[in-house]
Amino acid sequence: MSIIDLDSDTDPYASAPRDPARYDKLAKLGRAEKKLLLDELCIVDPVAWAKARAGFDLDPWQKAFLRAKGNTAVVAGRRVGKTAVVALRAAHHIAVAAELGVPDRTALVIAPSLRQATETTRAARAALAKALPDVEFASDNKLQIELPWGARLIALPGEASTSRGFTASMAIAEESQSLEHADEIFATIAPTLATTGGPLIVVGTPMDYQDVLYPIFEGEAVHDPSWSRFRIPTRWCPRVPRSFLEEQRRLLGEMIYAREFEAQWSAPTSGMFDRDLLTAALLPNDFTFAAPSPAPARVHPTSQGLGAAIAAAVIS
Ligand SMILES: Nc1ncnc2c1ncn2[C@@H]1O[C@H](COP(=O)(O)OP(=O)(O)O)[C@@H](O)[C@H]1O
Ligand SMILES: [Mg+2]
Repeated sequence: MSIIDLDSDTDPYASAPRDPARYDKLAKLGRAEKKLLLDELCIVDPVAWAKARAGFDLDPWQKAFLRAKGNTAVVAGRRVGKTAVVALRAAHHIAVAAELGVPDRTALVIAPSLRQATETTRAARAALAKALPDVEFASDNKLQIELPWGARLIALPGEASTSRGFTASMAIAEESQSLEHADEIFATIAPTLATTGGPLIVVGTPMDYQDVLYPIFEGEAVHDPSWSRFRIPTRWCPRVPRSFLEEQRRLLGEMIYAREFEAQWSAPTSGMFDRDLLTAALLPNDFTFAAPSPAPARVHPTSQGLGAAIAAAVIS
């Protein structure tokens, strides 16, 4: 499923219809049956796993993203929870590898710098530590998480040479708008996924028309059915106060605001902005909002398919 409705004021993934009849049936299950069902569900459904094992209440679009199949592209505003959700996707991928009979899964996370890539592995490690309390993690290695069955999550800096030679079952490119020589990097990643058929997941904010995400959302690959697409403005994020966004709009001006927070490409040429100047003007990655945001009224958990319905019924 791919909903791209930028005009919606709040996350349109939240309004997927929900069938109460499903819940009625599940409510009749006994305790042991519920547990068995949940155990199985957590293996196949990253959303159930994130909620039941890692204790994560996901935003509606994040649930849809976690269930997306195949190559997936996310272009989103700042602070919507991209890193958190790709980390969960990778964490689930390696956590259930043994149960699925593919214990040696390898997920790669590539970001412009190694430091950025390790932000993702750090978030994944936190989820795994919670979900797998009996597993010992070597905490001295920020660059790699290896689970006892051999599944690994590896952080790599954005250089084509570093991703060569792996066999990967998932590859994630983070902050793709700032990857230099992105074409070369993607050309190197593709063969690492070739034998496993694993997904390539590309996540970024819009930068310019040279951006690898641009063709997928607005350029020549816009109709390519092999991509699942998510386009998420920051105003859909319940944790970011509207007042903050209004202030940013005034500060940055419409054009830069649209790009940083509305997931829209706005510059007609790549040379229009000085990247360094822009980056300096933007939020640091570890920025946190001072006041908790007033969350818009939402029904939780929302149904993004049967998995969420079962998870909700089984967990309660
Ligand atoms: N569903 C969620 N519930 C609560 N906190 C979340 C959720 N998703 C993300 N966050 C938190 O919001 C902050 C920004 O998320 P992050 O993934 O770093 O955003 P992005 O990568 O899009 O800039 C982080 O502190 C993250 O832990
Ligand atoms: Mg991020």
